[in-house]
Amino acid sequence: MMHAVSENDTNSTDGKSSDDGILMDHNYRKMTMTELKDMLGNEKVSKNQKKKINKQIKWLETADARKALRKKRKVKHKEKNIAEGRKRPKFETITTVEDFHLLCHIAVDLSFDKLMTNRDIQKLGKQIAWCYKENRRSTHPVQYHICGLEERLGSSLDPSYKNWDVHFDKAPLESFPKDKITYLTAESENVLEEFKPGIVYVIGGLVDHNHQKGLCQRLADENGIVTARLPLEENIDIKTRRVLTVNHVFEILLAYRETKSWKEAILKIMPQKKLTPTSRKSNNVNDSNT
Ligand SMILES: C[S@@+](CC[C@H](N)C(=O)[O-])C[C@H]1O[C@@H](n2cnc3c(N)ncnc32)[C@H](O)[C@@H]1O
Repeated sequence: MMHAVSENDTNSTDGKSSDDGILMDHNYRKMTMTELKDMLGNEKVSKNQKKKINKQIKWLETADARKALRKKRKVKHKEKNIAEGRKRPKFETITTVEDFHLLCHIAVDLSFDKLMTNRDIQKLGKQIAWCYKENRRSTHPVQYHICGLEERLGSSLDPSYKNWDVHFDKAPLESFPKDKITYLTAESENVLEEFKPGIVYVIGGLVDHNHQKGLCQRLADENGIVTARLPLEENIDIKTRRVLTVNHVFEILLAYRETKSWKEAILKIMPQKKLTPTSRKSNNVNDSNT
């Protein structure tokens, strides 16, 4: 295809028309190699323009080499991160139905759909997506179970969630034996001491601004399910209420798997505003709040 030549040429810096005054309305960067070569053969194209066309041809000729170099650099960077323990090898599948008793499990119970406004459902969607991202990145990922996902929450998520590397399960009691479930609640009398493999630690999928105070504890009690609370006040000075968001609970458990220290894990994840100045001082890690 032949292009007329114009002053609007984005490669052109001199803003002059060609020698014989033909207007040039092309952009070399958008042209294919054949089109550029065609133009070179056009005797009406000025010397100056030919210089720019040749420059663009050279740029296109070296495109593959530049792409290969970029790829090489990326691979090297990724290998360095993995070697230094900053990143897990990507695309390694986490989710498995094997070795249940040897692996660590966290479930989010999504059976509270009807208690939430559309806005809170969206917030919950962001929280469970955040948990997914953090788990994928973690050097010690857990088996992540999303239990009882309903349409309203599903449609608030990016459609790619269908390909997430997680377990999409039914409600916790329909998916796991009762004696393998520990329901996490802020109100429990039991303090979580260990994050044991073979037990499913369930987080209530609820954004309720404390309007449903104690709901998960009540439901767990009614169903004879063991409950536990995170060991917050045992490890830090905390100044506000002890009810955390779904993602903070999830992230504290993940961080505990990595650090083997509740204190370190809690300080790393807890929003700074919930800590007293003393706790904040002993914590140099930034607030990882979403
Ligand atoms: C925003 S809270 C929901 C509070 C809700 N009123 C309830 O009845 O649980 C989301 C979930 O995080 C978990 N959670 C929050 N704070 C916790 C804590 N201090 N210890 C253990 N689990 C906690 C619970 O599973 C809770 O259901």
